[in-house]
Amino acid sequence: MASILVVYATLSGNTKAAAEIIADSARAAGAKVVLKAAGEAQPKDLLECDAVALGSYDAFSYMGGGLKDFFDRAFYPTQGQVTDKPYGAFLTHGGGGKAIESIESVAQSFKLKKVADAVLVKGKPEGPAVAALKSLGSKLAASAKKP
Ligand SMILES: Cc1cc2nc3c(=O)[nH]c(=O)nc-3n(C[C@H](O)[C@H](O)[C@H](O)COP(=O)(O)O)c2cc1C
Repeated sequence: MASILVVYATLSGNTKAAAEIIADSARAAGAKVVLKAAGEAQPKDLLECDAVALGSYDAFSYMGGGLKDFFDRAFYPTQGQVTDKPYGAFLTHGGGGKAIESIESVAQSFKLKKVADAVLVKGKPEGPAVAALKSLGSKLAASAKKP
């Protein structure tokens, strides 16, 4: 069974809610899901998954510190071992959303392969944002499918 890691940084819960929607959708598409707050996520979670969703809130036009910390901790222990692993990014923001660039840029440094457009959500996920997050979950599950 394909395994999806959903890792997220949140302060007030919007990004956690987004992560849970992605996780539910990937599960519904038949994947096993590991859902972790960035502070709890370990490099081995990234090594062991078949695809990863990377999410944060926007903090001064950069990703939240928790996700940055996860990336910093995971870089050397996973270097060269996650090349072309499928990923998709998501962000909640207050009206800006520029922080998505920081997540996409670090994902490139890890040499992950982008398999879905990033999902940007203003505030708490509702309406069309929920549909976009569900779509991200199902795309990741499809990209991670084992033959
Ligand atoms: C310290 C701080 C800085 C923020 N900076 C930005 C910003 O630069 N641009 C933006 O659009 N939203 C900004 N926001 C708003 C949050 O990204 C937004 O409310 C987000 O949905 C919070 O997610 P969370 O509930 O998962 O913590 C900032 C919030 C905080 C707490």
